[in-house]
Amino acid sequence: ATMLTVNRQVLTLDEFTIQQLRNFPQATGQLSNLLRDIGLAAKRINVEVNKAGLVDILGNNGSVNVQGEEVKKLDVFANNQMMGVLRHGISCAGIGSEEMDDVVVFDDEVSNQSKYVVLYDPLDGSSNIDVNVSIGTIFSVFRRTSEVGKPCTQADFIQKGIHQVAAGYIIYGSSTMLVYATRRGVNGFTLDPSIGEFCLSHPDMKCPADGQIYSVNHGNYFQYEEGVRQYITRCQQKNETNGGPYTQRYIGSMVSDVHRNLIKGGIFMYPGTLKKPEGKLRLMYECNPFAFILEVAGGKATDGKNRILELQPEGLHQRSPFFAGSSNMMAELEGCMAG
Ligand code: AHG
Ligand code: MN
Ligand code: MN
Ligand code: MN
Repeated sequence: ATMLTVNRQVLTLDEFTIQQLRNFPQATGQLSNLLRDIGLAAKRINVEVNKAGLVDILGNNGSVNVQGEEVKKLDVFANNQMMGVLRHGISCAGIGSEEMDDVVVFDDEVSNQSKYVVLYDPLDGSSNIDVNVSIGTIFSVFRRTSEVGKPCTQADFIQKGIHQVAAGYIIYGSSTMLVYATRRGVNGFTLDPSIGEFCLSHPDMKCPADGQIYSVNHGNYFQYEEGVRQYITRCQQKNETNGGPYTQRYIGSMVSDVHRNLIKGGIFMYPGTLKKPEGKLRLMYECNPFAFILEVAGGKATDGKNRILELQPEGLHQRSPFFAGSSNMMAELEGCMAG
């Protein structure tokens, strides 16, 4: 008789997550379910993103969101897909989204039994949709502080980043990847379109301590504070510590810029400007999740002075200056900004 050899070298997202979280003493499987739900939304968004040039979904929706930006149709589609899977799943009691003014409390029998709330940026870098450049989705997971069994509350969402249980992103790039972090590590999964599964491709991701890439919007250079300008100048010159000059890379999709720097080593900066002292990026949907991912991967993230994860949020949509990346590059930046 012939022996059947089953060749299973690659773990799927579900297999990996279930294995990883099974050993937790308090594990109920809710977090694995939550990540699977987000994986499903990611696949649906991916299908639309991939044909954005073809279908009428492309273009401006015409309305302006709470952030004062034009809302693109794909933003709305992605927002609804994320909300849909989380509402119908068994792990999420409510959501907050960059695209919605207020949190959505699901308040049904199953959702009220759920342990988690999720904050997300449904499409990040959406100004890049029209020009076929990589975009992403970002998510942040908190354990609720309110009583399980009842509807979740606003306070469940307004927690410091340090309390995140998990955070991650999807990048719709030359391939589609889902990367997520728990306290145990950061792992990346590449979508295999032939089987429609995210497969573990980047186990235990670490951000190198040193890098050769800096990412910042140079057009705002004269709007930045002295310390930031000084650091940028240091990136452009070789000096006693850094082995520069570095390469400048800025896509304008935070997901893509930070993903690249996480893998290759580098620093990403969105400083405050004269016009916008708090910068542009949103603490709850962009800064917190990436700060968590980078710290778990061995990197750092600050607002220029303070650790992002320790900032006490005051509102859902607040913005913060954001600096994140390789630890030695961050140390040099800190030196410039303190001096
Ligand atoms: P979003 O599309 O979710 O509104 O976010 C866009 C953000 C971020 O992805 C990117 O890093 C930044 O905007 C780029 O802003 P500038 O064009 O001002 O540099
Ligand atoms: Mn936006
Ligand atoms: Mn964004
Ligand atoms: Mn967005």
